[in-house]
Amino acid sequence: MGRSKTAFVCRSCGAESPRWQGQCAQCGEWNTLEDAGSGASRTAGRGSRAPAARAVALLGAGADPGIGPGDHPSSASAAPAGRTPSGSAELDRVLGGGIVAGSVTLLGGDPGIGKSTLLLQVAAQVAAGTPVLYATGEESAAQVGARAARLGLAPGGLQIAPEAELPRILTAAREMRVGLLVIDSIQTVFSPDLEAGAGGVAQLRECAAVLVRFAKDSGTPVFIIGHVTREGTIAGPKVLEHLVDTVLYFESDAGSRHRIVRATKNRFGPVGELAFFAMMETGLREVANPSAIFLARPSTIAPGSLVTVAREGGRPLLVEIQGLVDPMRFGNPRRVAQGLDATRLAMLLAVLHRHGGLSLQDHDVFANVVGGLALRETASDLPLLLTLASSLRDRPLPATLVAFGEVGLTGEVRPVAYGEERLREAAKQGFRQALVAEDNLPRKPIEGLTVRGVSRLADAVDYAFG
Ligand code: TYD
Ligand code: MG
Repeated sequence: MGRSKTAFVCRSCGAESPRWQGQCAQCGEWNTLEDAGSGASRTAGRGSRAPAARAVALLGAGADPGIGPGDHPSSASAAPAGRTPSGSAELDRVLGGGIVAGSVTLLGGDPGIGKSTLLLQVAAQVAAGTPVLYATGEESAAQVGARAARLGLAPGGLQIAPEAELPRILTAAREMRVGLLVIDSIQTVFSPDLEAGAGGVAQLRECAAVLVRFAKDSGTPVFIIGHVTREGTIAGPKVLEHLVDTVLYFESDAGSRHRIVRATKNRFGPVGELAFFAMMETGLREVANPSAIFLARPSTIAPGSLVTVAREGGRPLLVEIQGLVDPMRFGNPRRVAQGLDATRLAMLLAVLHRHGGLSLQDHDVFANVVGGLALRETASDLPLLLTLASSLRDRPLPATLVAFGEVGLTGEVRPVAYGEERLREAAKQGFRQALVAEDNLPRKPIEGLTVRGVSRLADAVDYAFG
């Protein structure tokens, strides 16, 4: 057993520090540093077997409707060799083609977003072919059973263990020879070998490390649920990201019933893939046409709104961007960006002033991506600036217009990758005009779509309001 090194770890972001500090140097949170080394070496009992957790088979339920919409043929989830289908084509894609044997996947998200619902659906699906253990320290077996019944899940070989003690969970998993283990949640399980309480950084890391070892030794895939915590009383999933193979996060608007799951790390597939679901009475359902989520626009378009074609998770996606400018009343002008990079917004405002002839230095500026999606690419530069110009002039942009393009510091409009694919998606969704960088003009005309290429921001503003 190696010497346990004394280090402190931030509960919030997982940053390490050799000594205790009041404020985390990485994320700036206060009072989040916690001793991560203490007790980490007290795992002498690792070899001896703990008694098995008492697992309860799920009883009775109707036919299993699965996660995919029944009428959507592509949702039949099929996985390549060595991978188990999760029951959802969307989730399989995010995982890189199904669940990999021996892999450990962390599913993070706000409390109440749907983590337990999604993994219970997956567990039931996988349990049709192999025993599955769903260990929960959050709810009783009766509660989980009631939920499964409400979701209409066929129990198959699914066993629920209302258990928080990790060694007992693993003994049960070994005895059952499970094909999948779900831990709900990492913040409630604990290893009795450690003195530290459940939910602390030391417990979280130790339990995750034990789960990783179990997955690798047995070849069993493991899903770990982790609540994202704001108040900092318990450690968040960030602390575990480096230990696991795949990290998935729920990313959504609290108010919407749509749920987006993003892969932020994946040893077995592409990073950045997105899966789209809707939370229904009967659990999470795949959304076959995600663009539709973001395009529920009223029939009359107000100033400050424009649709762009983002490319997120390997496919084009139509998203509405909104901009609002309002005369500043006092102090410094506010720049608020939701779903967009605030630093980039500030830079683009300077470009708009110098090269678009519009000054917003006496205005508060608010920018928003509708639907709770976070856009990470520069293709939203041009549409964002057009929404701000539209709000400032109080003139709406055409409802059938889409725009995308990067805007550079000299006021040039630059092409973005996958231009034609984006344009075809816009045409498919019924848009009639597109405003893009000259170098993004399609080689062949796209039916139903008039594409205008511009090289300067000022030309784009003229065209949009011309
Ligand atoms: P849950 O999966 O318990 O969230 P988490 O595990 O991430 O904390 O989901 C909880 C919310 O989802 C709860 O507010 C109720 C809602 N919900 C539905 O709308 N339909 C359903 O079929 C289920 C199971 C939950
Ligand atoms: Mg839950």
